[in-house]
Amino acid sequence: MSLIGRSRELDRILSVIRGPKDSALKVVGRRGMGKSALLSEIPRLSDARTVFLTASTSESDWPLSGLTALLTGIDDPVLNRFADELLRDSTGAMDVPTVSTLLLNGLHQRSSSRTVIVIDDADQLDPSSQAVIGYLARRLTGTDMALFMGVREETAESPYASLPALQLTPLNYNDTVRMLEAIPARQTSTAAVHAVAAATQGNPLAAVELFTLLLERAADGKYALPVPLPGKGSFEAEFAATVGGLSPAARQVLDLLSLSCRSDIATLERTYDQLWGGIEELLANGMVGRSGPHLRIQDQLLRGYVYAAMTPAT
Ligand SMILES: Nc1ncnc2c1ncn2[C@@H]1O[C@H](COP(=O)(O)OP(=O)(O)OP(=O)(O)O)[C@@H](O)[C@H]1O
Ligand SMILES: [Mg+2]
Repeated sequence: MSLIGRSRELDRILSVIRGPKDSALKVVGRRGMGKSALLSEIPRLSDARTVFLTASTSESDWPLSGLTALLTGIDDPVLNRFADELLRDSTGAMDVPTVSTLLLNGLHQRSSSRTVIVIDDADQLDPSSQAVIGYLARRLTGTDMALFMGVREETAESPYASLPALQLTPLNYNDTVRMLEAIPARQTSTAAVHAVAAATQGNPLAAVELFTLLLERAADGKYALPVPLPGKGSFEAEFAATVGGLSPAARQVLDLLSLSCRSDIATLERTYDQLWGGIEELLANGMVGRSGPHLRIQDQLLRGYVYAAMTPAT
């Protein structure tokens, strides 16, 4: 699938590859925002040799496993020696500061052409590898390395906290439509494309998943768009956690609001005056928005999730 609507981001990445200003950049974005899709374009951007590492959560308990995998991937005589030492170091004598300093010296000894390192899901690496890589990332100027990392969230305690960041923002509506139109479908479904683009607010994963679901329904002969659109797929766990953290009153209001794309405040007040605390909670945390005399659940997929959680499965 070709990348849509990220030319500004690609320019920023290219400027880091070319140097000399920044040598490391972290691409930050929430689940499904397109970090992996963007990072996977990097090998095509320049002639520089690119080494790609995707952190695997299964290995993340083993100290320095991520770093060892990375060094092996770079496959350079100087760095291979370190990788061997790390693998041999069963006693754990190589602590984070030692490894960091040794490697930094190693990087300065290297004199090959520019090497671009891409680490997707860098926040999933084992903590020691994150510490070493964070340390090196801040000191790459003067080496022949450029480093790109994909991370979901920025936290103040992260070893990557002080690195230059490229925050991925939602795709705009037209780009979302273009992305969905590029998905092979047996028949064109303009209504579905636009319904999905409107409901998913620029999150590419949410859009692709919902659109695929609608295409499957259409293949089963169900052409009418379900109302509300189902909040299924990769975001379900997030929705469950958000909803699970609400007070019982807020939860009850959310159920009521999910029945309709917008609800009249006066009616709610008359019928459910004891729920006002719940409404205030939902307005305060941004899950519900008010426009004129109406309230609505902001995220249409969350509405679908809440609705489905309420009604018996069919
Ligand atoms: N700019 C884009 N153009 C076309 N397709 C895109 C774009 N961005 C993302 N996608 C598609 O959207 C889906 C989700 O994107 P991706 O996997 O890159 O998200 P992510 O940020 O890496 O998510 P996660 O946090 O779960 O790792 C993929 O199918 C991807 O191909
Ligand atoms: Mg990803």
